[in-house]
Amino acid sequence: MQECDLADGNRLDEARALMLAGQLEGAIPLDRPELTGVEDAFFARDNSTGEAVGVAVYYLPEGFDHLWLDILYVVPRCRRQLIGSALVDAVMRVAKHRGFPKVEFGTMLTNETMQRFARHEGFDKGVVYMSKATA
Ligand SMILES: CC(C)(COP(=O)(O)OP(=O)(O)OC[C@H]1O[C@@H](n2cnc3c(N)ncnc32)[C@H](O)[C@@H]1OP(=O)(O)O)[C@@H](O)C(=O)NCCC(=O)NCCS
Repeated sequence: MQECDLADGNRLDEARALMLAGQLEGAIPLDRPELTGVEDAFFARDNSTGEAVGVAVYYLPEGFDHLWLDILYVVPRCRRQLIGSALVDAVMRVAKHRGFPKVEFGTMLTNETMQRFARHEGFDKGVVYMSKATA
């Protein structure tokens, strides 16, 4: 697992590419905010090619006392190999090390894979946010 500051433009581009793949799959909302580079991330890499095959992007939201898991994505060919689990563990360790009591994330109601995965990882209490377009 490689820990990165997304202020590094190359890492930011890699994270954006993985986020876009998730958006094209319909797993991550198309209208979500772009990554800006203020975030931090862990990457999982292919041992032989170095290619990023998974990412967890997280940050401390202003005024909050917990980390927000902003993006979690593993490329389809590498799923069900506990890479997502290792990425979440890495973020949990950072949160614990920094003295934060919890990590939170949001997902679409339709993303049942993420919800099953999250329950497996021990996430339980949830809040549902809904939105309605003004136009
Ligand atoms: C959700 C995601 C990150 C999981 O990554 P992963 O590396 O495949 O997950 P893991 O291998 O660590 O899974 C751990 C456990 O979670 C559960 N789980 C994961 N994917 C599952 C699925 N598709 N169906 C049912 N359970 C699942 C299983 O219990 C699994 O353990 P097991 O394989 O031993 O049964 C991955 O499916 C993904 O990138 N999805 C698309 C992007 C996305 O939805 N991101 C979240 C946006 S909020």
